[in-house]
Parts: sequence; C-alpha cells; structure tokens
Amino acid sequence: MDVTLSINGTDHRLDLDPRVTVLDALRHHLGLTGTKKGCDHGQCGACTVLLNGRRVNSCLTLAVMHDGDEITTIESLGSPDALNPLQDAFVRNDGFQCGYCTPGQIMSATAMLQEAEDGWPSYISRSLETDPDLTDEEIAERMSGNLCRCSAYPRIRQAIAEVRD
Ligand code: FES
Repeated sequence: MDVTLSINGTDHRLDLDPRVTVLDALRHHLGLTGTKKGCDHGQCGACTVLLNGRRVNSCLTLAVMHDGDEITTIESLGSPDALNPLQDAFVRNDGFQCGYCTPGQIMSATAMLQEAEDGWPSYISRSLETDPDLTDEEIAERMSGNLCRCSAYPRIRQAIAEVRD
C-alpha cells in the first residue's frame, strides 16, 4: 500500500506491506535507526516518537494508518555538535548507562514538557489537571512508560527537572 509519512518535516512516500509498523518503517525502510526496538510489544517505550505532537509507542501502530501524519523522531532534535537542551541535560547529568532507552526517554520527555507548557490534554486524569505544575512526582509518573534496564531513573529525572526549571 502507498502511504506518505511526514518525518521530521519531510514527506516520504512509501510502498509498504500493511503489517509494517511505524517503528519498522522508520528503521528498515527509511534508515532512521535512532528510534530503538526494545520489546516490540508496547511495554518499554524505547520506540517512542511523536505522532502529530503526541508521544506514541511506534511499535504498536501500523504505518499505513498514518498517511499524511507528522512523525517526529530523535533525529530531528539535535546533532552531536549541537545538542538540544534535553540531550545536553542528559549528558551533563549522566542520564543513561547503556543508552539504548535514551532516544525514547528524550522523545517522551520532549512531549511531556511541551504538554506541561501548553496545558495537559484531556486524557490526563482530573486530579493531575488541577495541578498545572510539573512536579518531580509527576515527572516520575508521566515518564513511567519508558523503562531503563540500567535503572538510571534518578539521573534521567534530574536531567528532565533541570530543563523544566
Ligand atoms: Fe515499542 Fe518496547 S519497542 S514499547
């Protein structure tokens, strides 16, 4: 099936088997290997990308469902010579060990910080809606879909909090 995906601001027209996930389209059809495959079952968050500005597990959604949609990947955020603020904070705070989960962590944090600035979307629970501030506890809760097998959580949260502040 033909599908056009807008990846990091550039349209890519692809002819894909309908069973190809967004994750596999990125990695295997477009060579964008910054997005990682961990569990391939929606449980680890390593494959997190932004889909029309919202974070999704790209292993759980089929590419052909997203004709015309905007997909943002880790490749859009910075470069080794010019890290974006979150990437820089992760480096300075040692917010990783093996680094495999890092692209997903950073994409998830990017969306979370943007949501905090724009106002939380309607699917956020009422109890959290009443508190507009992104507390340390909320960072931990809202990042809970991104697992780190090295358990670098305290430093990941520290890096995110630094950008929040
Ligand atoms: Fe998609 Fe783990 S690879 S959630």
